[in-house]
Amino acid sequence: MFRFLWQLLGESPFHGTVNPMRVPLLMSTGFRRSLPFPHPWNFREPIQILESLFVDADSMSGSGRHTVYLSVPGIAPFLVTRDPQLIRAITVETGDKEGQFDRDTLPSDGIARATGVDSLLYSNGAQWRNQKKLAASPFGKSTLFQPENFDEFFQTFRETVRDRLDVCRQRAAELGGSVEVLLEAEIKPVMLEMLTNSFFGAEVSYDDIRNRYVPALEVVIDDIVRDTVMKRLPVPGFLTRPGKEQRDRLKAARADFEQLTEIVLSKRASGNGLWRQFKSDVPDEALKTNLRVFLAGALEATTSYAAWAISHLARHPDIQEQLYRELQPVDRYSPEILNNAVLLTRVLDETLRLTPSLYFLPRRASADVIVRTNDGREIHIPKGTHILLDVWHANRHEDHWGTAVTGYPAEDFVPDRWRVLAERHVDSKEMLHFGFGHGPRVCPGKHLGQLEVALVVGSFVKLAKFQALTPGNPAKAGVSTKPADGCQIRMTLREEYQVSKHPTAVPGRLECYA
Ligand code: HEM
Repeated sequence: MFRFLWQLLGESPFHGTVNPMRVPLLMSTGFRRSLPFPHPWNFREPIQILESLFVDADSMSGSGRHTVYLSVPGIAPFLVTRDPQLIRAITVETGDKEGQFDRDTLPSDGIARATGVDSLLYSNGAQWRNQKKLAASPFGKSTLFQPENFDEFFQTFRETVRDRLDVCRQRAAELGGSVEVLLEAEIKPVMLEMLTNSFFGAEVSYDDIRNRYVPALEVVIDDIVRDTVMKRLPVPGFLTRPGKEQRDRLKAARADFEQLTEIVLSKRASGNGLWRQFKSDVPDEALKTNLRVFLAGALEATTSYAAWAISHLARHPDIQEQLYRELQPVDRYSPEILNNAVLLTRVLDETLRLTPSLYFLPRRASADVIVRTNDGREIHIPKGTHILLDVWHANRHEDHWGTAVTGYPAEDFVPDRWRVLAERHVDSKEMLHFGFGHGPRVCPGKHLGQLEVALVVGSFVKLAKFQALTPGNPAKAGVSTKPADGCQIRMTLREEYQVSKHPTAVPGRLECYA
């Protein structure tokens, strides 16, 4: 009741030295490209919605510059922050202990309807802790980077990447050494194949992966976004219900997705791939939700990450060449070599900073709490508050990542900023880009994902020179972000793969991509 009155009177529900600015719902002094909340006409542009929350903020000084709130009588307030210190403090305080933040399920209940409610991604509290014990460790560094595991996975990952790039090479060779491609569509099947066949030890044919399972997952993932927004709208269900054709397509896609999950799970009994390391006697059924999340989530995130890295490099031929020179002598990516590939690491870090795959992290206050930042500020957040940690805009704001702090403008893709930071003795633990989250709910697939993306990006740089075919590098966003042009590039085979110069390179498989 008090909260309702507060809201009517326009009182801020937040207190402390962090004093968020209230976002006017309809009127604003600045120019808004979108209303500051999702509705049927803007929900496909979530980054613009986040941006519109901050239109008036840049003219402010004080904590309202990076932290704002939305308040509508009758519903819990929304707190949105692009302040890295506050993002860090809230992610560190997310977990299953008394008073800690939950992951907010409001922006992801479409994911739960598509994959199940008890997954590591969706659950909170004790259920999340159990799922973490059960499912996170096989993906962790200590399992994946054991020499015997690493070698096995690395070899199979490498085979997959090599086979698929060979197709690109042959295509380019047939067309005189140069070809235009929408690379995102090529990356997706490679990422799914690495996960299903190399990692989980299944034997799904490439044709099925490319023509059946990737399109099915695309339909399911696209519907997750639509479903999440539409179910929340205060309009009768029949107005937002998809048409019959769309429903049939979704039904078929879900059936294919389920079949892929079953195929992957069926390898548990024979101990293929990762399953050999998976020590647990829980029934297969209990693993299904997590498997669905791993398949769909990892496909989205790794495709986004690799597509962005290549898309940035396609606009920076100088960095591409430096990276080529760094990787040319590398034919094996051991954990040590990956650690020593300094430019590759900077390119990947810069990619996740400027264009993070997950553009915001959702949280919810499970109790009234006081959050303290490392630089000595605090904010009192009332129970029930929905919190959007706006990583996308935090990472590209001049105040946090600009010339004064990192030597280069925040909105530019400059891997060299990581050298400047290192020289200034600012390490990556201080300058967090949150590309894999932070704190107890950090991504368990981080090491697997890094390895896959490093392999795909590194191999591609060794195979061809590539340039972007569209201006700028805008984003499209759904469950994750991707280059809006689908990573449209012209690739020209490097000299060592040009048929005219090396006729013997045509037959058989190439042995030196990765
Ligand atoms: C390489 C690309 C990847 C990126 C950029 C990425 C990013 C993220 C981020 C930012 C989070 C934290 C979300 C939050 O704090 O709310 C997260 C969580 C998660 N990721 Fe990833 N991820 C990647 C790959 C993977 C892979 C390969 C898997 C599994 C096979 C995976 C499974 C998960 C799961 C299950 C969670 C939820 C963990 C929890 O809540 O405890 N991710 N990921």
